[in-house]
Amino acid sequence: MHILIASDHAGFDLKTLLVGHARDGGHEVLDLGTATPASVDYPDFAHDLAHRLLAGEGERGVLICGTGIGMSITANRHRGVRAALCHDAFTAELARRHNDANVLCMGGRTTGPGVAVQMLDIFLATPFEGGRHRRRVDKVEEPGTAKTGLGVRGSGPGNDTTRSAAPSQEDKKERES
Ligand code: RB5
Repeated sequence: MHILIASDHAGFDLKTLLVGHARDGGHEVLDLGTATPASVDYPDFAHDLAHRLLAGEGERGVLICGTGIGMSITANRHRGVRAALCHDAFTAELARRHNDANVLCMGGRTTGPGVAVQMLDIFLATPFEGGRHRRRVDKVEEPGTAKTGLGVRGSGPGNDTTRSAAPSQEDKKERES
């Protein structure tokens, strides 16, 4: 798979590790910097990666800063980028299966190397489930279609006041899906 990867200084060490790991795994990796541990501004790297991803230079992206927060906020300003800040195998897997995330964000100061490598492998190998998640991801990309009032008790799906207070097995299943 063609992967784009970038970090700021706080993600530099983890990026170096992940570039090597992905290449060893047979992936084509375009390392967009930063190239040294000297202090830089994370938005410069997140914007660059997002532009390139949307231009088709890679199928997936990886962004690393100190916490992953700045990178994810910045990348998600680009329509069509779905950047997921993940912290473990479960969030990395669900980011793909349910959210069709195309950029994995993580924190060089919050995530250890073992977990980072595991998250990357899962993120690259896991397909999008589609189905009901396709509908939801389509809605993410169309903020203008949002319905109002869904948060008001009794006015939206899941807020049916005619239901009994104790959740049935069916309710529980619905909430987990
Ligand atoms: C840099 O000190 C730090 O603010 C940055 O790497 C990142 O964590 C921002 O979200």
